[in-house]
Amino acid sequence: MAAAAPAMARALLLCLVAASLALSSSAQSCTTLTFSRSGDFALCSSLQRLSSTLHWTYHPSNGTVDIAFRAPQSNTGWVAWGINPQALRMTGTQALVAFVNGSTGRVAPYTTSVTVAPLQPSSITIPATNLQGDFSGGFYTIYATLQLTNNETRVNQVWQSSTAFSGGFPAGHATTGENVQSLGTLDFLSGESTAATNNIIRRRNRHGVLNAVSWGVLMPMGAIIARYLRVFKSADPAWFYLHVGCQCSAYIVGVAGWGTGLKLGSDSVDIKHNLHRNIGITLFCLATLQVFALLLRPNKDHKYRIFWNVYHWSVGYAVIILSIVNIFEGFDILEPAKKWKRIYVGILIALGAVALVLEVFTWGVVLRRRSRGGEKSHHGAANGAANGYGDRQAV
Ligand SMILES: *[C@@H]1O[C@H](CO)[C@@H](O)[C@H](O)[C@H]1NC(C)=O
Ligand SMILES: *[C@@H]1O[C@H](CO)[C@@H](O)[C@H](O)[C@H]1NC(C)=O
Ligand SMILES: *[C@@H]1O[C@H](CO)[C@@H](O)[C@H](O)[C@H]1NC(C)=O
Repeated sequence: MAAAAPAMARALLLCLVAASLALSSSAQSCTTLTFSRSGDFALCSSLQRLSSTLHWTYHPSNGTVDIAFRAPQSNTGWVAWGINPQALRMTGTQALVAFVNGSTGRVAPYTTSVTVAPLQPSSITIPATNLQGDFSGGFYTIYATLQLTNNETRVNQVWQSSTAFSGGFPAGHATTGENVQSLGTLDFLSGESTAATNNIIRRRNRHGVLNAVSWGVLMPMGAIIARYLRVFKSADPAWFYLHVGCQCSAYIVGVAGWGTGLKLGSDSVDIKHNLHRNIGITLFCLATLQVFALLLRPNKDHKYRIFWNVYHWSVGYAVIILSIVNIFEGFDILEPAKKWKRIYVGILIALGAVALVLEVFTWGVVLRRRSRGGEKSHHGAANGAANGYGDRQAV
């Protein structure tokens, strides 16, 4: 015991030394940088992605902040940094952009409100003055003085670096790795900055996949099964179990995806995606209603069955339409690689094409059956599966 105490003290000391070394080395990464523009910056932050750093001095007396954004890039590439007043995402970012103009060999930084590529000069909602830029030693630096909106020092920052151009202006960047993780929140007053971590990005992607597969693909498939398979007598009652099975698994996966969305929403204190959230909650309520209404379903020949059917189709189609709307809403928030949106659009077109072909084909079947069956086919929906025409109307 007596010998253990000095040993522990030594270990503790070693730990402290190691920790302070680690701290000073991480601090070094931005505090030791010097700038061609005169005057030092009071605070800095290593932005963790794309090896960039942000340096600034905040003036509380008038709510302005002098900034310098520095990022490595070649003289044939571009860098950009900006504040997004709306959300932690690229679209809507009020950005400063810099690149070496090939014909003048100079950097002339400008402002742009990010909507679509290419990034052409435009005015931004955060007044930026003293705009200046330089390129040296493989690094771009953009200087500016920003007038913070309502003296609000906590902002969403987004930055980027790429070599893609179109028509002489920056256009496009890698859609994987650090190029999609280069965003986070920053407090100019305290200097505290948080990067959008890999973890959050993974959770957002998982939320997107779960919901796109369940609400966006399985549910429309289940509706197609119910509407078209039931026309074939041989598929009765298999279509019913397929339909229920499809919608129930969609519901279970969908509720899991919905839960991940609620968690993401409650974790994101600064940013609210109200429309996406409200549609999501509506969808959960409607789909839950749909599941429980199954238990209240009157018999096939009950006189109220027709009302239940009308209720079931209207809620069902409303869920499908709202789901698709909300998935596109989600694409806008998540901003995944373009191919994911294209893949989803492709799946929707394929489902639509299948539905169209089956629509034509099953009407053919029903009309033929009707012309053969004569009288028998006018019993309508109440007659259920025994009657093709009735079924056709019923779905
Ligand atoms: C801006 O905020 C700082 C810190 O809260 C405060 O000291 C300062 O007076 C504010 N300035 C203006 C112009 O509102
Ligand atoms: C804001 O305040 C700082 C420090 O007090 C000063 O240097 C700067 O010129 C002021 N900027 C404006 C736009 O008034
Ligand atoms: C590059 O500089 C030339 C000459 O000043 C100018 O005409 C051109 O518009 C500049 N290009 C861009 C993309 O700013």
